[in-house]
Amino acid sequence: MRIGSDEIVSFKEFEDLLIKATNTANEGITISAMDQPDRPLVFVNEGFERLTGYSKEDVLGKNCRFLQGKETENEPVEALRKSVKKGQQTTVELLNYKKDGTAFWNRLSITPLKDKNGLTTHYVGVQSDITELRETQKDLQAANKDLALFQEKINFELDQARRVQNFILPSLLPQSSKIRFSSVFEPMDQIGGDFYDVIEIDKGVYGILIADVTGHGIQAALLTFMTSFAFKNLALQTFSSAKVVTATNEKLYNKMPRGSFVTMFYAVYDSNDKTLTYTQAGHPEGFVIRPGAKEVIALKSEGQLVGAFSSELVNYSESRIQLEVGDKFLLYTDAILEIWDSEGVMMNRDNFTSFLIANSHLPIQDLLEKIKLFGLSYSGKKTFNDDFTMVGFEVLA
Ligand SMILES: Cc1cc2nc3c(=O)[nH]c(=O)nc-3n(C[C@H](O)[C@H](O)[C@H](O)COP(=O)(O)O)c2cc1C
Repeated sequence: MRIGSDEIVSFKEFEDLLIKATNTANEGITISAMDQPDRPLVFVNEGFERLTGYSKEDVLGKNCRFLQGKETENEPVEALRKSVKKGQQTTVELLNYKKDGTAFWNRLSITPLKDKNGLTTHYVGVQSDITELRETQKDLQAANKDLALFQEKINFELDQARRVQNFILPSLLPQSSKIRFSSVFEPMDQIGGDFYDVIEIDKGVYGILIADVTGHGIQAALLTFMTSFAFKNLALQTFSSAKVVTATNEKLYNKMPRGSFVTMFYAVYDSNDKTLTYTQAGHPEGFVIRPGAKEVIALKSEGQLVGAFSSELVNYSESRIQLEVGDKFLLYTDAILEIWDSEGVMMNRDNFTSFLIANSHLPIQDLLEKIKLFGLSYSGKKTFNDDFTMVGFEVLA
């Protein structure tokens, strides 16, 4: 017989070689004869002896079902039975028992050997001990279950935090015959850091704030609380927007975690003389939309992020503008400018301001609603990627 190169070996030598080869395997390798009563084992390798604790002498001549026991499930045994009956290959996992009674998980694969007429004369079985693998799988399943429960708990907590966060938004906007306020707040699923506030500081004098705290999640929620409370206390004490932002920065600085900050735009509107005083602090500019005008009026002032730098390093200034009846004042967070269309082109300031001018005749609440729809149609999506927040007012008289 010729195997490999030119070497000639006898059939006996070849048989020995094959047996030696099967003995190198860690797996059990077995052969059952199908043409003998009860299909007995006619060959087992040393791997099988190591795996089961049974010796060749113990098992040759017996059907391999002796490895099954009390806890062996019926389903895989049934699958083996069916495959053997039909002369088919199959792989099952089933509980077997070693000679000393120890249970082990056996991944058993059986393959028919057929003669030239297609009749199954023998079956080859390969047995692997997968007990450890099954244990690991079980541990993994248990860990995944724990993880799912943990995730559920976290989602519940986040949901609670989101509900609480809504409390810092004004439930009702002030109303007067001289001014009409409106707002849109579309929080994303995750907790975001946007919020706004409108407070009546004095008769006919209103403080209007929009703020965006860095990050998302619980930390952002806590920072919005902190910022909102600090602002609310301070805003009632002065008509100066710059003083309020300066004092808010002082309160927050040192208390904010490193790398966290707030951008804000705060304006004080006196409806008695229609003056608007405002301070921009790292936040997008505000707009006054004057019906009939060709351009929006951009409201900008000097000022840095809030909460990130000590008072010596910041300088918040305030600017003033005289408003007219019909003017609309708009504050927003950057979500409106950070929208991409289907081709990846970002909404730019010109798109936004042209839209505002084209719709300057609309009442404030319709304008805000339309801006929202404009943003969504620009992106072609149903929701925004980030919190989407706007607050503004219209001068009625
Ligand atoms: C080659 C071969 C190896 C087998 N090895 C195992 C084994 O390791 N463990 C086991 O539980 N059954 C093994 N079986 C399955 C049983 O021998 C038998 O086919 C099964 O229990 C279903 O038949 P039964 O209803 O006659 O018991 C093997 C079958 C063949 C053909």
